[in-house]
Formats: sequence, structure tokens, C-alpha cells
Amino acid sequence: MSQTIQQELLHLSGSGLLRSTRMIAGRQDSTVTVDGRECLLLCSNNYLGLAGHPALADASSRAACLFGTSSGASRLVSGTMALHEELEQAVARFKQTESALLFNSGYAANTGIIPALVGRGDTVFSDRLNHASIVDGIILSGAKMIRYPHNDVQALARLMERQCGKGRVLIVTDGVFSMDGDLAELAGLIELKRRYAAFLMVDDAHGSGVLGSQGRGTAAYLGCTEGIDIQMGTFGKALGSYGAYAAVPDEVRKILINRSRSFIFSTSLPPPVLAASLAALNMVQAPEGEELRKRLHELVQYFREKLRQNGFTVAADPTPIIPLIVGDASVTMDFASALLADGIFLQGIRPPTVPSGTSRLRCTLMAAHTIEELDRAVEWITFHGRSRGIL
Ligand SMILES: Cc1ncc(COP(=O)(O)O)c(C=O)c1O
Repeated sequence: MSQTIQQELLHLSGSGLLRSTRMIAGRQDSTVTVDGRECLLLCSNNYLGLAGHPALADASSRAACLFGTSSGASRLVSGTMALHEELEQAVARFKQTESALLFNSGYAANTGIIPALVGRGDTVFSDRLNHASIVDGIILSGAKMIRYPHNDVQALARLMERQCGKGRVLIVTDGVFSMDGDLAELAGLIELKRRYAAFLMVDDAHGSGVLGSQGRGTAAYLGCTEGIDIQMGTFGKALGSYGAYAAVPDEVRKILINRSRSFIFSTSLPPPVLAASLAALNMVQAPEGEELRKRLHELVQYFREKLRQNGFTVAADPTPIIPLIVGDASVTMDFASALLADGIFLQGIRPPTVPSGTSRLRCTLMAAHTIEELDRAVEWITFHGRSRGIL
């Protein structure tokens, strides 16, 4: 056993795919201490900086004092606390749906929702670049998975024409693609979902809080809220907390409560987390949230343009996820290590997170970054990119 594991580790290491975690100190602010040294943080999904906001910390500590630190069991066992219900109602208002159901994380949501809605004999059409938790949810469901080329609505139409048979049909997509920062073609997907009487599920982990009026997400940004059956979102990214939700019609909520194994068989979110999420939802819809989003979008435009001026190929997407494609996994990791040595902490992303040959540096911006910090980052990224022949 241990010999085969060692061989596997050696193989991962030899192909530049060995992963390990880094010790950091401090909050997810614009700078963080990595291995004892202050570095510019360019790889956190804390887009609005809410993870360190005093309003969330206050709400969380008050909830811990009043309601304790655990929910004690699954909600079907020890009950729904008032904070669960309050947060679900707040999510439903935020996403303008009939109701919502909480999940313990985005991963738990996707692996819980999809198998609750489809199973053997059903078909799921999934964008090729969807998040791994969606893929795992489809595999768990036992439904037939058909992956369509990234954001290619015409190709999806052809596949649906050929493949839609008996059983339920689900189209599932990221709203903002987590490793590319581009947006789903929601209008085209809604049209197809109507044509083929399919369900449409959108995972808006990275759009919620960031895009659209009051941060309502990618669908709101694109003006496409009608026609999405399941709007999944998370609290662990722009909302600075933890957990996830499905914003859905009442009948879908009922079926999820009865069929989602990650909802049924797992202790529910604890009061301090629920209270932080509630505070975050209020914040993103308030003028302060609007200000943070405005600041973030200015920084996003500035950083994308500056990289472009320095010779990088950067799309014009409105999101704080900015990939710099390198290609080879080992070169990517070496690039990231060189940047860290110069005080820039960003992550190299390799297969299986992204397709082979598309390893990349994934830069993520936060409203708390300054122009000076971004200038410094671009300078070092350009310097190390040039010395590796990437530019
Ligand atoms: C698109 C997408 N969906 C789901 C998840 C999982 O969410 P969580 O981190 O809350 O488990 C992520 C997290 O990286 C994601 O990027």
C-alpha cells in the first residue's frame, strides 16, 4: 500500500502536478503573510473584502453567544433554527425566487441538488468548463452526462436535437466560469431549455455579490433571470462567509429537502456562519456594497488593460477572475514560485482543475487592492513572464 502511494506521489511530482497547501497568517486582505513574509494576495475569492469586515465578525460573534457554535445535527433531525429560515428568506428576496434552501458548501450543493433532480434514464448537458463539483454531482446522479464545448450554444442545440430522449433533461452551467472569468451564454441556454422542456441550473458562485444590480449575480447582469430553474450560489466568495444555497420555486425546494443527500445527511450550517452570511447579504445590497462593487470593477478594468498593454492576452470580461494562460504545468508552477519570491502570491492552476495544456496563473482582484499594488503585480508578472518566454 505505502509503496503504491509513494509511486503515485512521485508520478505527480514528476509531472508538475503535486499539490500542497501553504501556511499563511492574517486575514484574506490585500496583503497576507506567507511563510513569514508579507505578500500581495492575488488569489483570494474574497472579492469585496467582506471576509474581514467588522459587521460580519460582529454578527457572527453575537450569534455564537446567543445561539451557540453548532446547529447540532441535520435540520431534518434537530430542526431548523430561526437563523436558517431568516437567511433562506433573505436569499429568496436577493435572487427574487419563491424560496431557497441552504447547503453546507457549494460542493455540497452541487453534489446534492443534481442527483435530487435527475437520475438513471435522464440526461444532463454540462458545459465542458463547469466546476468539478458540478461534474461530481452529475456522476453521482447516474444520469447520462453530455459535455458540450465551452459556451457553444449552437453545438449544444445540435447535441440536444440528437440526444434528448425520454426522461428529464437538465442543462447546467457556471454563471461565471471559475478558472476563466467569462460569463455563460444564458440567453441562448434559456432559449434551448424552453425548446426542449429542460431544466436549467446556473452555479453563480463567482457572480453573486459581484455582478448585476445590488450584486444579484450573472443572470441579473445579463438581464436573464426569467427561465433559470435553479440558481445556485455560495457565501464563501464575494459574501465573505461560508455555505451555499439553491434559490428555487417552492416545489423544487420541497424535493431537495426530500432527495438531496448532502442536505439530509449532514449537520447544517452553524449560527455564527448563518449570521455572517445574513450580514453579508444585507451589505452587498446596501450603498456600501454598491461602492465596493464600483471600486472592484474600476480595478478590474485597470488591471486587465495594464496587462494587455504589457503584451498579455486578456479578455474584456467584467469579472475579477483574470487568467494568464501559460500552457505547461511545471512552467506555470515555476512562474508562481518566482512571483512569490518577489512578494506576489497568486496560484498556478493545473490539470485536472483546467484542461491539459492550459495551465495558468489565475489572478483574482479584491476591492481592497490599491492601484500601486496592482502596478507592482503587473511589473513582476511581466518580468517573470518575459524571462520564461511567455510574452
Ligand atoms: C463555480 C464553483 N462552484 C462551486 C464551488 C464550490 O463552492 P464551495 O467552495 O462553497 O464548496 C466553487 C468553488 O471553488 C466554484 O468555483
